[in-house]
Amino acid sequence: MALSSESRHGMWSSRWLFVLAAAGSAVGLGNIWKFPYIAGENGGGAFVLVYLGCVALVGLPIMLAEVVIGREGRRSPINTMRVLTQQHHRHPAWVIVGWLGVAAGFLILSYYAVIAGWALFYILRMASGAMTGVTANVANQAFNDFLASPGQMLLWHTLFMMFTVYIIGRGVIKGLETAIRWFMPLLFVLLIVLVGYGVNSSGFERGLEFMFRLKWESVTGETLLIAMGQAFFTLSLGMGAIMAYGAYVPSTASITQSVIVIAVLDTLVAVAAGLAIFPIVFANGLEPAQGPGLMFVTIPFAFGQLPMGAIFGTIFFLLVSFAAITSAISISEPVLAYLVEQYNAKRKRVAISVGVLAWILGVGTVFSFNVWADVHIVGQLTFFDFVDYVSQNIMLPIGGLLIALFAAYGLPKTVIAAQLNARGKAWWIGWRIVVGCIAPLAVLAVFVATVVEFDTLMAWLNLQ
Ligand code: PFF
Repeated sequence: MALSSESRHGMWSSRWLFVLAAAGSAVGLGNIWKFPYIAGENGGGAFVLVYLGCVALVGLPIMLAEVVIGREGRRSPINTMRVLTQQHHRHPAWVIVGWLGVAAGFLILSYYAVIAGWALFYILRMASGAMTGVTANVANQAFNDFLASPGQMLLWHTLFMMFTVYIIGRGVIKGLETAIRWFMPLLFVLLIVLVGYGVNSSGFERGLEFMFRLKWESVTGETLLIAMGQAFFTLSLGMGAIMAYGAYVPSTASITQSVIVIAVLDTLVAVAAGLAIFPIVFANGLEPAQGPGLMFVTIPFAFGQLPMGAIFGTIFFLLVSFAAITSAISISEPVLAYLVEQYNAKRKRVAISVGVLAWILGVGTVFSFNVWADVHIVGQLTFFDFVDYVSQNIMLPIGGLLIALFAAYGLPKTVIAAQLNARGKAWWIGWRIVVGCIAPLAVLAVFVATVVEFDTLMAWLNLQ
């Protein structure tokens, strides 16, 4: 079957640009503020192995499925699903995959821009030397003061969103590709510089041991849940972002090879982030924290104590900001492409509308840290916790599950064979087993376990 060769939104200039773009989507806040810590806390090297297993058995197959579907449809995920279900006489309800992705995209973009805004602010804070030599209490207070100020947070949230809108509004080639051509190499260079700094600090050995010693005793059933959730989020799966990028992949590019390179790059960056962060944390005799505490208190404080810390601290937050922007642009692509197709609208206008809507939703996240800190949507969850929970733990797994099922059972063998350039018989059996059974069953199991756990949690909270 011949592959459709063009997307109306433009095409990546080469296979490598697709690889870089998808790696840009994958490498984000998830790699820097989540992976190193959860690896250290949940079994070190043992967690890394479990995580690699999740990437190989679930992440890679679903990413393959997304790119295959995207390149076959050559449209936004919603219209790709619509066209493919019509062409292959499948139930129109499959289009829900595209809608779920758009909804998840709005939710994720809204809070992603808020947190990325903090990173932008910290570039300035580090560069100004404000963190040089301060005590741990001062570093903590400085972050709390920032969180307590909705005005400040809104300012940086707005700046990050404007930056994102500017890039996505310029289109696939002029906007996305240009940003990726600059930011990805810079990101790699900055990361190498920081790892070099970490390797030379006195905490390197403890950092290595924290992240890599095989601590099988801390691996439990929950570890699997955490590893799978992380694999999903960090590879940007389940919401059509990779499907949208897949629509712009040249017909001659090998999907399988590209997907493997993307997953390897993403994992390398996550590991390297740990090698950059933990040595300086341990060099200061600190204990690693997670999430905001690690990134905006421990790290600024640790850099502030070290020689040339202001410079390297600035580099760190530049790195985080680059990683976040290349992810944010991919989160917006499914909805952007859809609105352009549906209303024949100008990309710039659509970008502004999407940005404004996500910005408004993001205000809820900004307020979750100050004026609405005591407002709980369910249980103890603030607006931000809720949006984060629903998008990451509910929408992404359901999206991923449906995508795998559609790729395995919704599309004819000939279509998949042409997309994967596969010959013979064995590959089809493998495809059905991995994409059609292992990946969906694993996602389903993790999803049910997470939701059941959530229920138990809620029941417990109500009893308190
Ligand atoms: N992969 C990104 C990260 O690790 O931070 C997050 C993300 C980007 C999720 C794009 C989903 C997405 F579509």
